[in-house]
Amino acid sequence: MYGLVNKAVCDFITANFGEETWEKIAEKAGTDESFISMEQYPDDETYALVKVISEELKMEPAAVLETFGEFWVTFTGQEGYGPIMKMTGNNVRDFLANLDDMHSRIKANMPELQPPSFEVTDDKDGELTLHYKSNRAGLAPMVLGLLKGVGKLFNTEVQAKHVETRSENPWHEVYHVKYS
Ligand code: HEM
Repeated sequence: MYGLVNKAVCDFITANFGEETWEKIAEKAGTDESFISMEQYPDDETYALVKVISEELKMEPAAVLETFGEFWVTFTGQEGYGPIMKMTGNNVRDFLANLDDMHSRIKANMPELQPPSFEVTDDKDGELTLHYKSNRAGLAPMVLGLLKGVGKLFNTEVQAKHVETRSENPWHEVYHVKYS
């Protein structure tokens, strides 16, 4: 994954738990202490960070991923990707429906990006089903946090539930989303 992801993890831990905690986590996970956003790092390093954070902060790995997902939306907004997010939609529904276009735009500057894929179905008033497909395993809880972050972005209350994991290739996770 691009270093931007590990950098977000580093920033989140440093801001909330201090530099010493971050240094300990990076050492235990066997990663660098700082990352170059546009450089590639093995996915295993990101997974190792999640595992060590979960041990050090006594949080379930799913809770770590969910917290990180929510932070990701704020973080990327502050790292210069706000305008791309603005172009993606003016409300939760449109934004979620256009996530693949958004990652395609990002790929123009990050050619090695392996983005996930999202699809909206059962699109009703204030309710929808979101499908998340990824070659990466285990990230389903992150999407719950991302949905919270997207809700905050639009000042909209979002309630999301992970309703199904389909053992397909790529992984296919299904969420029920209500927004008002
Ligand atoms: C403009 C802001 C954003 C940027 C710059 C961005 C960029 C990235 C990058 C660099 C990765 C790592 C993948 C790789 O390096 O190959 C990633 C992964 C991911 N992104 Fe985005 N992203 C943004 C916003 C979002 C939003 C708003 C969502 C969903 C609501 C989202 C969903 C995901 C998910 C679930 C992954 C995990 C990777 C996977 O499943 O394979 N991203 N994104």
